[in-house]
Amino acid sequence: MKILLSYVVFLLLITNNLSAQSYNTLWIPDTLSGPTYNLIARDTFKQLTPGNQTITSAFNGNIWGPTLIFRKGEEVQMNVTNHLQDTTTVHWHGMHLPAVMDGGPHQKVPPGTIWSPYWKVTNNAGLYWYHPHLDMMAQKQLTEGLGGLIIIRDSIEASLNLPRTYGVDDIPLAITDRDFNTSNQFVEVPYGDSIMVNGTLRAEYTVPAQVVRFRILDAAIETSYRLGFSDNRPFYVITTDGGLVNDPVLMSGAAPRFLLSAGERVEILVNCTGQETSTFSLKAFNSTLPQNIPGGEHFPNGPFASFLGHTDYTILKMNVGPQTANPVTSIPKSLTNNVFPTKADFTRVLTLSDSMGVLNPPILGPNAFILNNHLFNINYIDYNIPVNRTEIWELTSTSGFAHPFHIHDVQFYILSRNGQTPQPFEQGWKDVVLVKTKETVRFITRFSDYADELHPFMFHCHIALHEDEGMMGQFVVGEPSTAINEQHSEKPDFILYPNPACDKLFIEMNDPGNSEYYVTIKNVSGRTIFMLPQPKMEHGIDINKLLPGTYFLTLTDTKYKKQITKPFIKL
Ligand code: C2O
Ligand code: CU
Ligand code: CU
Repeated sequence: MKILLSYVVFLLLITNNLSAQSYNTLWIPDTLSGPTYNLIARDTFKQLTPGNQTITSAFNGNIWGPTLIFRKGEEVQMNVTNHLQDTTTVHWHGMHLPAVMDGGPHQKVPPGTIWSPYWKVTNNAGLYWYHPHLDMMAQKQLTEGLGGLIIIRDSIEASLNLPRTYGVDDIPLAITDRDFNTSNQFVEVPYGDSIMVNGTLRAEYTVPAQVVRFRILDAAIETSYRLGFSDNRPFYVITTDGGLVNDPVLMSGAAPRFLLSAGERVEILVNCTGQETSTFSLKAFNSTLPQNIPGGEHFPNGPFASFLGHTDYTILKMNVGPQTANPVTSIPKSLTNNVFPTKADFTRVLTLSDSMGVLNPPILGPNAFILNNHLFNINYIDYNIPVNRTEIWELTSTSGFAHPFHIHDVQFYILSRNGQTPQPFEQGWKDVVLVKTKETVRFITRFSDYADELHPFMFHCHIALHEDEGMMGQFVVGEPSTAINEQHSEKPDFILYPNPACDKLFIEMNDPGNSEYYVTIKNVSGRTIFMLPQPKMEHGIDINKLLPGTYFLTLTDTKYKKQITKPFIKL
């Protein structure tokens, strides 16, 4: 009897183990096309692993949220509805847009409200993403599953013979890692024990026997992934964060690898022509990462412990299936002709450091890493940058750890790493750069358009833990001269009509001038219900969704920083 029991237990263990080894089909997020995009953040239950369902927060019901397809040159309109328990923000990572639409820590979306930013897409074709960015809450809300990809298309990319059938030969991969507690709930830790791709654990996918494009995002809280394939096959890098590189960069040799850090994106081409029925995997070769690169740390226990630390592991198992009709079977020789700025008007020096040795007394534990010798303070603006200025940012790290530095609003070009020209696969538009220990990275960028002294953009370490702990700063892009035109020194005055109103509310300006305005609607308890950057006044404001009651509408003149508030009644 005893023997039989232990045999049953043994069998159970095996089956358990087998199910732990089985693969799940990679989830390919739905796509949304414009010009209007509706995103709803809410908590949902997901059967991620056998046993209890996992409570996740997600956009439109899935981790990973829908992929937004934008076309360069078009105006896009977002409606972000927050059905979460908590306030959130949604940041459009990599986009060049007005600061008030950026979705950083300042553009809060309280529970039960809709935030409706819009802008004209000016970024190049490439892979971007959106994610929560609430001050000190980024790690928590990312961990819960909020986030999604953005794919921008443009005419240059469209003219190339590249794979672009979404989910077939053009496969989005948002890579992250998660920890689960014993009741299958996410635990907020810097390094997870399980890899998730597009929200799928132990993912596998069937790819066609032709050239396949992978659009890869490191969506992790902290981990960098040293990407490569199980069979060490070569691959081609075709983009950096902000679009195509000039020519595909062949990654070959005995063990081709590509280091991707939190927030960074890369698109690669892999040739699977003639390989039908074979299998291979995308892996992280993190056993070869040094300890001071995120993901290279090996801690058996403590807050940074992870089964994946300093090891090699599978990210996605690939089964090569039949070729599709009209397959892409060759790699283009050349992709685009980027023009990067060469002459800067100004050089700005930034420091990345460990608080120990810089702050006195040092802050130990949390707040261990800082930018420019101070912790983030939401009321402190680090830089006032005149619009249309080209700047070199010189980042010098004295930190004992590598940090993926990210800047909002702009794409930059890396001029040098420790005085050396960057590798060919970094010679493109970027918005995240991994600054390693004792490294100096210089990049050049131009701050154009959308001068607005009222709304800051952020720069920060994209390790969500570091960002939350204060490794972040902010800048505003303003008019070169702060002189105020006397003609417009009066507060803008306006009337609201009809008032009371039931579906549309119109604003009539006394002196429309040439200022730009944005509209904020608050309820009687001061909660922001709506924020409409640069509304099209002539169309009126849609107040259908407001509950009956009294509200306050504030008109902010973004140019002359004037504000005026008027009440109205919604019937
Ligand atoms: Cu992707 Cu400020 O972040
Ligand atoms: Cu960003
Ligand atoms: Cu950092």
